[in-house]
Amino acid sequence: MKYCELKRPELEKELADVRKQYDEKKAAGLKLDMSRGRPSPVQSDLSEELLKTVGENEDCFSEEGIDCRNYGFLKGLTELRKIFAPILGVDFEQVVACGNSTLNLMYDCVSDAYHYGVPGGKAPWGKQKVKFLCPVPGYDRHFGITQALGAEMITVPMLPTGPDMDRVEELVKDESVKGIWCVPKYSNPDGFIYSDETVKRLANMKCAAGDFRIFWDNAYAVHDLYPDPPKLLNIMEEARLSRKEDRVFIFFSTSKITFAGGGVAFFAGSEASVKNFLSHAAVRTIGYDKVNQLRHARFFGSTEAVYEQMKKHAEILRPKFELVCDTLERELAPTGTARWNRPLGGYFVGLNVKEGTASRTYTLAKEAGVTLTKVGATYPLGIDPFDSSIRIAPSAVTLPELKQAIEILCVCAKLAVLEKMTENKI
Ligand SMILES: Cc1ncc(COP(=O)(O)O)c(C=O)c1O
Repeated sequence: MKYCELKRPELEKELADVRKQYDEKKAAGLKLDMSRGRPSPVQSDLSEELLKTVGENEDCFSEEGIDCRNYGFLKGLTELRKIFAPILGVDFEQVVACGNSTLNLMYDCVSDAYHYGVPGGKAPWGKQKVKFLCPVPGYDRHFGITQALGAEMITVPMLPTGPDMDRVEELVKDESVKGIWCVPKYSNPDGFIYSDETVKRLANMKCAAGDFRIFWDNAYAVHDLYPDPPKLLNIMEEARLSRKEDRVFIFFSTSKITFAGGGVAFFAGSEASVKNFLSHAAVRTIGYDKVNQLRHARFFGSTEAVYEQMKKHAEILRPKFELVCDTLERELAPTGTARWNRPLGGYFVGLNVKEGTASRTYTLAKEAGVTLTKVGATYPLGIDPFDSSIRIAPSAVTLPELKQAIEILCVCAKLAVLEKMTENKI
């Protein structure tokens, strides 16, 4: 029954029923943390063999004879770059294999642009006014980087086809707009995939700033839940066609393929971008962790093996995503108070509850033992002007735990709406 169609007495009865359900669930004393998109221990176990590939009886030499225990070779192991280059959609010469975190690389790239500028620019960003486009809802840690470095963040609505491109094209006419955060496949948190048209427009659009950069965080490039996954258009190829390949910085890591704390992160870009990246990286390090790169190269051996590993992850994750979406469908769809996308991959489900009720939903869930990602986190500065976006991260908990947690979340979302509609808050 749609809540907006209920008469006052019916609303009050529903409120009493839902409050009773909430009290019962709260009394169960659950304690679950669903605040971050961590892989579960069972997923980490899938890569256990990786730890043995550079073991007691194995040498530490790469295929080219590099002693991975020693300094140097900043661009990373060639065999590993060759395995991941097709996934990044570029030639291996355009790929740098780095340390364990793309977030770290993204921070470095923005920070380097602030200190030294990027090719095509008139001055370091730090000496100019800098505005950054932030598709919302989006990834909190992206916004954290641009906040920490002092950029003004301009929100752009995220549509099922990607950022609202009419708005983006309008905004990039301003020379102080220097960049945009993009999670093009299975966006965080909604799980949307940029359409071909969006990718083409991003690659081709006319920007007033010669030093405008697209931060293409393709974190979930291979994180498909189902066979025959949707294809993302290759942005680098599109940019090359219009001679704008310097515009695109690509980031990707194995954090959610092997180990979230011990994977390998990659940077890819045009020849000029890679040269520029390496010139700054060389100041920071004599070489990234090649022993871990060697482990990864030996563990996978081929690009195909990466996709095989992802099928195993999908077996673990798919039931969790389906449980979340089925429960939302059963519990919230009939009330007509919430919207969400059923993702085909990635790590999150973005739930948009009725405007003005997300914070209350979060608090109710917390009091009932379920910790969600902080409300507002999906917006710059942690402020969701609609108080509507809730990020569900189903990966870390077990299926039985997830079932309880999502049922509690649905009860909380309903209770928050009913309280608001009747102004009858405890
Ligand atoms: C979109 C996105 N980018 C980057 C990261 C972090 O990546 P890394 O582990 O490579 O730093 C995450 C983690 O949740 C993410 O969702």
